[in-house]
Amino acid sequence: RQNVFLLLLLLSGISGGRTLSLNGLPATGNVTENSSAHVLVHTFHVTLSPSPSEVVSGYPLIINSNPLTAAFRIDPGAPHTYTEVVTTGDPDLDYETMPHSFELQIYVQDTAGASDLQILTVQIIDVNEPPVFHGNLADQSKRTAWKQ
Ligand SMILES: *[C@@H]1O[C@H](CO)[C@@H](O)[C@H](O)[C@H]1NC(C)=O
Ligand SMILES: *[C@@H]1O[C@H](CO)[C@@H](O)[C@H](O)[C@H]1NC(C)=O
Repeated sequence: RQNVFLLLLLLSGISGGRTLSLNGLPATGNVTENSSAHVLVHTFHVTLSPSPSEVVSGYPLIINSNPLTAAFRIDPGAPHTYTEVVTTGDPDLDYETMPHSFELQIYVQDTAGASDLQILTVQIIDVNEPPVFHGNLADQSKRTAWKQ
């Protein structure tokens, strides 16, 4: 009976050693159009288990996006476990000419070889353009004023 118990302990130890996860993902982040660089889109955590392993330097990483864009990047927090996705400001996220939604594939790997891949969907929020008055409207108000 004790052998079975030890075996179970061993098995759970093995699977536990392969656990690495991106917490707070998948998710949807919103960002207004024409945001400047460094605007926060989403924050997430990397959970390592058990402790001796570390996140491989350079991760987590946006490995791909659909459609492809350089408009977002990951700013790693110390020590890689608390992480932010921010805008780069280049290219500009113009609602009128850019897609309104991006899917970022975020990938992380630890020194024990475990990895996780999650999707962050980023929605671009439209901002009303400042209104442009055309001649007609101005003429119309003049005419209305004249009639009174
Ligand atoms: C983003 O906007 C959608 C609606 O457009 C909303 O349901 C969602 O909660 C928003 N997410 C955040 C993180 O604000
Ligand atoms: C966003 O930028 C584009 C291109 O520079 C511009 O045409 C558009 O009016 C801007 N939108 C807002 C809300 O400022």
